[in-house]
Amino acid sequence: MDKPRFRLRCSITKLIFFWIAILLTILIFFHRTPSSNPNRRVLPSLPAWENVVVQSAKPLANSTTGQSVLVTGAAGFVGTHVALALKKRGDGVVGIDNFNKYYDPTLKRRRADLLRRNGIFVLEADINDSEKLAKLFRSVKFTHVVHLAAQAGVRYALRNPASYVHSNIAGFVNLLEACKTANPQPSIIWASSSSVYGLNSKVPFSETHRTDQPASLYAATKKAGEEIAHAYNHIYGLSITGLRFFTVYGPWGRPDMMYYSFTRDMLRGKPIVVFEGPGHKSVARDFTYVDDVVKGLLAAVDTAEKSTGSGGKVERPAQLRVFNLGNTSPVPVNEVVGLLERLLGVKAKKVVVPMPRNGDVLFTHANVSLARRELGYVPTTDLKTGLRKFVDWYLDYYSESNWKSAW
Ligand SMILES: NC(=O)c1ccc[n+]([C@@H]2O[C@H](COP(=O)([O-])OP(=O)(O)OC[C@H]3O[C@@H](n4cnc5c(N)ncnc54)[C@H](O)[C@@H]3O)[C@@H](O)[C@H]2O)c1
Repeated sequence: MDKPRFRLRCSITKLIFFWIAILLTILIFFHRTPSSNPNRRVLPSLPAWENVVVQSAKPLANSTTGQSVLVTGAAGFVGTHVALALKKRGDGVVGIDNFNKYYDPTLKRRRADLLRRNGIFVLEADINDSEKLAKLFRSVKFTHVVHLAAQAGVRYALRNPASYVHSNIAGFVNLLEACKTANPQPSIIWASSSSVYGLNSKVPFSETHRTDQPASLYAATKKAGEEIAHAYNHIYGLSITGLRFFTVYGPWGRPDMMYYSFTRDMLRGKPIVVFEGPGHKSVARDFTYVDDVVKGLLAAVDTAEKSTGSGGKVERPAQLRVFNLGNTSPVPVNEVVGLLERLLGVKAKKVVVPMPRNGDVLFTHANVSLARRELGYVPTTDLKTGLRKFVDWYLDYYSESNWKSAW
């Protein structure tokens, strides 16, 4: 063989080795770099979300209950508090949320981050996604489902009525279908609303009062939820507890709610619109601090009986309950504004207008005797104390330079 040809062969071989080495380096690099998916960061070696779900659902060693709970709407205001409280006492917790844009999704992402740091995985999915739900229930035998995912708010129905039907009716039915098929069936604790009392004028609102006069589409979908719950309990033996929340407020709250938007606008020096009823009557709400609601909800979880159906058969009637979770002391909106003025050190620029007929009711007032008797529910936080905690959180949350843009 002549020398130049030999040299050419050598250099081609070197070139091939060189490129193979480069390719191998790239492959090793990508294999070792953690995925940008935040859930993968928790468990880098696990290939699919189902495996992360299984980890998140495992009760901790300190668990007194041994329960695995699915929390829908976990990136929401109440969902985040509930998921953290369950995890804190050792329950396994998995969240599901579609992170919709009804209000600033950044806030939902930040709540989900908080949950992730506490070992709670939030699956990004819609409760209408039957396939995802089926996989979820195949991966974990949930003992309980705490169902909080919903289209909340009353006035938004004027703009987007379909979102209420999608989440509060179709989504609820889809979730109940998954629960009914699961083996064993979980017990369900879900959020109804004080809004079901609608135009009822008897006070304080008791579970025995009429709920057939909704004043908003939101209320109508929550009332429909209660009837749907009755049907699934009757046919499939699902143990279901509905909780009628009364104006829940607190840290990590909902930006569309009055106490939150008043705080934001007052700090910005913007006017706030205060509604009043006929004859200049003040609008009043039974504000309930989120920790009190969480305590009531956990008591509902702990007293929930097991579902009684399996494989389409019901062995015996299953538990079906409805409770008010309120604070039992309605506060006029003007008083809320006064409290916020003192806490924020800002004088509100009030614009008082008659309440439009857009779904809001004049007042809410809970009778909680049933919840006290059956769940040991006793709300302990007055509005002044609760609002101070909210304002502290608000100032802290928005003082971080990164989040200034959200003001
Ligand atoms: N906060 C209150 O004052 C109050 C009062 C009465 C009833 N409730 C009920 O309590 C529950 C929780 O309320 P919140 O204040 O935490 O509201 P929220 O809007 O903060 O939380 C609801 C969460 O559900 C998620 N979600 C909505 N539709 C979904 C879907 N189809 N699939 C998956 N996720 C979905 C949203 O992204 C959101 O994160 C709701 O059912 C609400 O109707 C709340």
